[in-house]
Amino acid sequence: CNEGECGACTVIMDGKPVNSCLVLAVEADDSDVMTVEGLGKNGELHPLQQAFLDEGAVQCGYCTPGMILGAYAMLLKNPEPSNAEIIDALEGTLCRCGSYNRIIQAIQTAARAIRGGIS
Ligand code: FES
Repeated sequence: CNEGECGACTVIMDGKPVNSCLVLAVEADDSDVMTVEGLGKNGELHPLQQAFLDEGAVQCGYCTPGMILGAYAMLLKNPEPSNAEIIDALEGTLCRCGSYNRIIQAIQTAARAIRGGIS
């Protein structure tokens, strides 16, 4: 859309979250790009994906890929975030369904699982 308003199209490009709607294909040339489909391994959901399901953090699902990938990038840098740090990291990703409390809860659940060695 070239607007960057909602963050739903977030992907990880060279280890950083970017709004894919703001990146031209030529800018991604030779970059490492991961979408939400790249998170799971061997048919298993990533702890973030599982936690979003377990905590009921998905309503319509429109924001979910962006939320999960934004959280993934944040957890790489900060594996034990406070709720305020989660809110700060995901401030550019909007949830029209207003599921923010459950999203934060899911990210905390996933963070604990990842720290516990489930990844
Ligand atoms: Fe609907 Fe977030 S779950 S926009």
